[in-house]
Amino acid sequence: MNFLEIKNLSVKIQDKIIINDFNLTIAQGEIHALMGPNGSGKSTLAYVLAGKPEYEIMHGEIYFEGKDLLALSPQMRSLQGLFLAMQYPVDIPGLNNSYFIKAAVNAHRKTHGLQEIDAVDFLDAIKSKLALLNMPESLLHRALNDGFSGGEKKCNEILQLLMLEPKLAVLDETDSGLDIDTLKIVANAIKMHANPNRSTLIITHYQRLLNYIEPDKIHIMIDGKIVESGDKSLAHKLESQGYSVYGK
Ligand SMILES: Nc1ncnc2c1ncn2[C@@H]1O[C@H](COP(=O)(O)OP(=O)(O)OP(=O)(O)O)[C@@H](O)[C@H]1O
Ligand SMILES: [Mg+2]
Repeated sequence: MNFLEIKNLSVKIQDKIIINDFNLTIAQGEIHALMGPNGSGKSTLAYVLAGKPEYEIMHGEIYFEGKDLLALSPQMRSLQGLFLAMQYPVDIPGLNNSYFIKAAVNAHRKTHGLQEIDAVDFLDAIKSKLALLNMPESLLHRALNDGFSGGEKKCNEILQLLMLEPKLAVLDETDSGLDIDTLKIVANAIKMHANPNRSTLIITHYQRLLNYIEPDKIHIMIDGKIVESGDKSLAHKLESQGYSVYGK
């Protein structure tokens, strides 16, 4: 069974077609990378997968483990195992970061018939992930992303990934804005999370991250559709040629 299957998806916002007859299939355990010029529709696709409401789905279908994803609320998509690390994580002043992550973890546990996580166990678990990501513990006690640096916000998305252990992770430019050492740390965390039961869709502009995480497939998206798919050599080709060969 295909893990994620996007068929003939077209999406518009305010009369502008942004995703145009888009097709993509990701099998369980695979890592795919989606690349493409600014404005080609990558984040829109990520938001449509997560269920951000303002998009008009003109036609097409999305199946996640055989289920009709578009029929599910954003909450249900998350509880079914879909996770989006946002390109621009949102600040929520007044919402404690640790409380937010714990509430999300508990909502997922409840869905799987598990008891709420014990406060001590939660702290142990999250502190080990913080250490892995080289993040200061103080970030746990602050409001979600409020005043976080660009890199701290990206790391906090990966912290959530590690705590929630989703079946399908969509990572929208998680590598953008990370320093060289943090990029390696985040790449290792993503690699550690990936396993034969979990799939990953990495949206990125740079070959750099893909040097650490070797994707099974790379897709080039232009004007809302995939114009070429291939192996990791495609990222090298892009790095040297840019998008001009695609008429951009
Ligand atoms: N709410 C909106 N109203 C109008 N246009 C929008 C809206 N949201 C997205 N768009 C447009 O859709 C197009 C695709 O945007 P999107 O953010 O998906 O691109 P992207 O491929 O992620 O680009 P980048 O690499 O710069 O992140 C852009 O031209 C953008 O301006
Ligand atoms: Mg984007």
